[in-house]
Amino acid sequence: MKIAVLVSGRGSNLKALIEQQTQNDYEIALVISNKANAGGLRIAEQHKILTHYIDWSDGNAAEKKAACLLAQTDIELVVLAGFMKILSPSFIETINTPIINIHPSLLPAYPGLNTHQRVLNAGDTRHGASVHVVNDQLDAGCLIAQTIVEVYSDDNVDTLSQRVLQKEHKLLAHVVGLLATGVLTCTQSQVLLNQQPLTQPLLIT
Ligand code: GRF
Repeated sequence: MKIAVLVSGRGSNLKALIEQQTQNDYEIALVISNKANAGGLRIAEQHKILTHYIDWSDGNAAEKKAACLLAQTDIELVVLAGFMKILSPSFIETINTPIINIHPSLLPAYPGLNTHQRVLNAGDTRHGASVHVVNDQLDAGCLIAQTIVEVYSDDNVDTLSQRVLQKEHKLLAHVVGLLATGVLTCTQSQVLLNQQPLTQPLLIT
């Protein structure tokens, strides 16, 4: 399965996807960023993956360009991995491939930004990350899989975010692998596991 990864920053999830692609039946054929200096673009270049920086100051024009690139590259799945732009409903409708996102919280808890700080402020003892289908609402599409991390009493944002990130790397590659082999299939409104509706997110340890 040919996938595209959209990034805005350092790209550690992209790197994890690259490292796990051969054993997981997917090929990262395209990396797009809205930031010319994104670490993720450099990582992709080092691995000789086709990269494109798109100026996102005009969202409509940027999405048109992105849609063209996805079609030209025969992309079958789009993965948002630290992509900090909200995609419009019309883009999501038109590109005709599933879009998934990785988010650093146990959704539906803590959509949006600063999840680690919010978890610490709330005194939660459990945190984690989620992979979900992208729809027209922020971090609110169907959940596909989650990973759980224990919060320690001496955690700060750095220690907690690092621990979650390590788990994200495994979670995302695992989910993309399941989509690539057809074990999981998804549309904008539902996720199927072995052709049956997924009733709760998969738990990846
Ligand atoms: C990750 O924590 C991801 O869950 C969130 O943005 C961060 C991206 O990190 N959406 P990286 O660029 O993959 O290192």
